[in-house]
Amino acid sequence: MKGKDKKKGKTELIKMENFLKNENSLKVDDKIEKNTKTFDKIMFLYTVAGKEVVSKLEIIQQEFKLFYDYDVIDSIKTRIKSVDSIINKMKTKDLELTYQDMIENINDIAGVRVICPLKKDVFSIINLIRQMPNIRVIKEKDYITKPKRSGYSSYHLIVEVPVNVLHKIIYVKVEIQIRTMAMDFWASLEHKMIYKPQTEISKSASRELVSCARAIYRLDNKL
Ligand code: GTP
Ligand code: MG
Repeated sequence: MKGKDKKKGKTELIKMENFLKNENSLKVDDKIEKNTKTFDKIMFLYTVAGKEVVSKLEIIQQEFKLFYDYDVIDSIKTRIKSVDSIINKMKTKDLELTYQDMIENINDIAGVRVICPLKKDVFSIINLIRQMPNIRVIKEKDYITKPKRSGYSSYHLIVEVPVNVLHKIIYVKVEIQIRTMAMDFWASLEHKMIYKPQTEISKSASRELVSCARAIYRLDNKL
């Protein structure tokens, strides 16, 4: 092995897809099956990636508190998507139920939600994330400047973060949702009532929710 290759072998930066292809114990073409070693190992990588993102955001939260006496972040939540939700989403997207398709197409297996007091704080956090040396932003959706038809307002980033396991550095995708406390209040209610519809709600209730979203939008612009 040449000197350069040796160095590369030590801190190899590798995309998750490629990492799994090279790992004999993880067959990416396999069907997704919960409670198997392969499933647990892959989910472990997403869990670590979520923790990495949370830890970076907690540092920003504490830094603002200590140096500026300001709460730029109210709270941070994190979750790993359940296997049933993953499979349902893959079915709706007409994907093959393999790990390969899951890793390539499902971007929100690891999810982090950042709740900020004010709209300007949301944009401060976005700028700080963009400047982080070891986070790659791969997709951004600005539902704050342009809310969804439902009234949903939030800023979404799909990022890749390096996870250091098995003597390798693997890039794993995480979805970060950033929103204000008011937007979060609305989204949590609406999520239960409409976004994941198990029960029908009336047309007038659904119009009322859109109108509440507009009121929240005005509120956030005033604060
Ligand atoms: P999903 O397939 O639902 O994940 O949407 P997507 O892949 O097109 O991405 P998008 O960025 O639009 O939405 C990602 C996530 O944002 C969703 O999983 C929800 O958590 C949240 N979200 C998006 N739209 C709405 C909405 O209208 N209401 C609520 N409550 N949440 C939403
Ligand atoms: Mg989702």
